[in-house]
Amino acid sequence: MKFTIEATDPKSKARAGLVKTDHGDIETPIFMPVGTAGSVKAVHQRELTYDVKAQIILGNTYHLYLRPGLDVLEKAGGLHKFNGWSRPILTDSGGYQVFSLSGTRKIAEEGVMFKSHIDGSKHHFSPENVMDIQRTIGADIIMAFDECTPYPCEYNYAEKSMHMTHRWLKRCIERFDTTEGKYGYSQTLFPIVQGSVYKDLRKQSAEFIASCGRDGNAIGGLSVGEPAEMMYEMTELVTDILPTDKPRYLMGVGTPANILEGIALGVDMFDCVMPTRNARNGMLFTSEGIMNMRNEKWKDDFSPIDPNINSYVSTFYSKAYLRHLTVSKEILAAQIASIHNLSFYLWLVGQAREKIQTGEFATWKDMMVKKVSTRL
Ligand code: GUN
Repeated sequence: MKFTIEATDPKSKARAGLVKTDHGDIETPIFMPVGTAGSVKAVHQRELTYDVKAQIILGNTYHLYLRPGLDVLEKAGGLHKFNGWSRPILTDSGGYQVFSLSGTRKIAEEGVMFKSHIDGSKHHFSPENVMDIQRTIGADIIMAFDECTPYPCEYNYAEKSMHMTHRWLKRCIERFDTTEGKYGYSQTLFPIVQGSVYKDLRKQSAEFIASCGRDGNAIGGLSVGEPAEMMYEMTELVTDILPTDKPRYLMGVGTPANILEGIALGVDMFDCVMPTRNARNGMLFTSEGIMNMRNEKWKDDFSPIDPNINSYVSTFYSKAYLRHLTVSKEILAAQIASIHNLSFYLWLVGQAREKIQTGEFATWKDMMVKKVSTRL
């Protein structure tokens, strides 16, 4: 994997860059739609490619390992072949889902014992087997096995957990660097900064992660319930330490405003379930603000969902029709809303990229944060 920076914004820490992988290029800053179980919920791969214009999608080790399972994925020739997505894929390591989804779990130095949320069966994740699993899934970018601490989190727990995540990282690197991809293309490993909301821990973690010298670095343990200002403060502290010439990935973030602020702090990659999950609940993100599609207000508004967004559904369907589908609980409502929300997120990061290249990002960002946060 190669990363080049094409432009930097004069009034913020924002950068526009290009990540090169064996499955194609990624223009940064970028938003990565979440395809937990190998599918971005309610969106076809064709729509993802041509309407949403997604450049990379996410998969989850935890879900894919449990179902369809590694035997099926390996027989298929990896996730790209299995789901027909030929652009880059990043997989999260399970170090987050195990904590948020599985029922009983036991964390130890060796790894984590957990029970499947599907059938209650017992499994074990370790830094080593999580590397092997992601090798088999075949993601272009694979994530280190970490513990994402909750918020709030006591200092002592956050410190112990961070050190364990660092020891796990050493084991991840050892395993990753002594194994090879199974499908003929190269894979790369991103480590994850932890440290909860404690400045000294974040600094220590960012320094350790930077010293590992990987192709890219991630910031974890944020957007877990802490105030947004705290998330920005931690993000800035960390981006100031992580190498400038490597992409930085802020995990699980966030709202359109969170993403714009993250870009201003020097973050290059984002992922979040919000555009797809909220779409399924009738919440739309648009270039003018947020719309609740259940609202009576849209009943006879025959204007397009969002004329500024260059995707088929955003300009073809009216607000009134989408409201009707939403209130009627039609499956098509979820499809249209998901494609629109993702198209909007991709449009937003694309606009940010252009503004960085023309040196106008900082002022545009302040105007845009207000706009996208407005409730229509
Ligand atoms: N997704 C959101 N936050 C995190 C995190 O801290 N670690 C991992 N592995 N995934 C995440």
